[in-house]
Amino acid sequence: MAERNVLRVLKGATAFPPPIWMMRQAGRYLPEYRATRSKAGSFLDLCYNPELACEVTLQPIRRFGFDASILFSDILVVPHALGRDLRFDEGVGPRMTPITAQEIAGLDDDGFHVNLSPVYEAVRKIRSELPEKTTLLGFCGAPWTVATYMVAGRGTPDQAPTRLFGYRNPEALDELLNLLADLSADYLANQVDAGADAVQIFDSWSGVLDEAAFQRWCVRPVARLLARFRARHADVPVIGFPRGAGLAYNSYRQQTGVTALALDWTVPFAQAKQLQAVGAVQGNLDPLRLVAGGAALEEGVRAILETLGDGPLIFNLGHGITPDAPVEHVDQMIRLVRGAQR
Ligand code: CP3
Repeated sequence: MAERNVLRVLKGATAFPPPIWMMRQAGRYLPEYRATRSKAGSFLDLCYNPELACEVTLQPIRRFGFDASILFSDILVVPHALGRDLRFDEGVGPRMTPITAQEIAGLDDDGFHVNLSPVYEAVRKIRSELPEKTTLLGFCGAPWTVATYMVAGRGTPDQAPTRLFGYRNPEALDELLNLLADLSADYLANQVDAGADAVQIFDSWSGVLDEAAFQRWCVRPVARLLARFRARHADVPVIGFPRGAGLAYNSYRQQTGVTALALDWTVPFAQAKQLQAVGAVQGNLDPLRLVAGGAALEEGVRAILETLGDGPLIFNLGHGITPDAPVEHVDQMIRLVRGAQR
């Protein structure tokens, strides 16, 4: 069998038209997702049900024929498997009990991988049902991004609670980030053992830190995670997504050792080209162009293909698709990408 096209590009090959998938491609913009989601009960019930998680993972593949499929789960199952409470309130997002410095010292990873066994089972099931040519991506949250939810107990616009916590309790935050890095490395390695071809690390909140904090809380833990992951899977591509990292995207790849970079939509093309000279890039359509459709969508797609199409590119959004994106606009985007001529 020829190597799957997303994997080939992740390893540095150029393909035109480029392969395409979307962050959050299994989600509320799809009627079939909403139907399975209500059958499952809660969002977390869906994440821990291998049959239903497999079903929603496959829905966007069946409907759109994307080149890559991403495991359906959430980054917050990692703290949940560590014994932290977690719930998803309808319309408001994740809620956890904020962790204290004392509680960090007492975190116990006994049972961690047993708690996550439904995720591993979902990966095996997805791989057995996916088309042969479709790349399967596993994922986790980066230690900093996961820690922001553990410390604040919720999403915040600027992660002020966790930045303050880190300035006041630097040793405790380092300890938490190190634990998350080691457990996440094993979690990703187990996903690969179960059938994932490559993995993505979501560092959604890396854009709120000053230079020293970015180094200590983002780069250092992700480098630690990569080193431990590489000891088990030296050649499996890793996509890093330090959303909002701006100029620091360059040093993030160099210092963490990720294979490829997912670019948010604010990364200028001149910088994206420089990054692409070193390895594959993925992105970076503004998800709101997909909501708007029409000329806004056409211009956005064309600009990406024209500037990045002659190097290793995986077409994607610059962040997850939003629930209000019309399915017809997704169809239109795929037609624009797959019908492109050089
Ligand atoms: O991309 C995919 O299709 C795979 C599944 C996936 C989900 N979450 C499903 C989900 C992935 C890769 C994630 C990652 C994730 N989860 C991140 C990093 C990426 C990013 O978007 O920045 C973060 C920060 C989370 C935490 C999280 N989960 C939040 C803040 C929310 C609420 C926001 C919202 O959109 O409601 C979730 C819930 C969530 N995770 C949903 C889905 C499909 C919606 C919940 C629902 O169906 O009710």
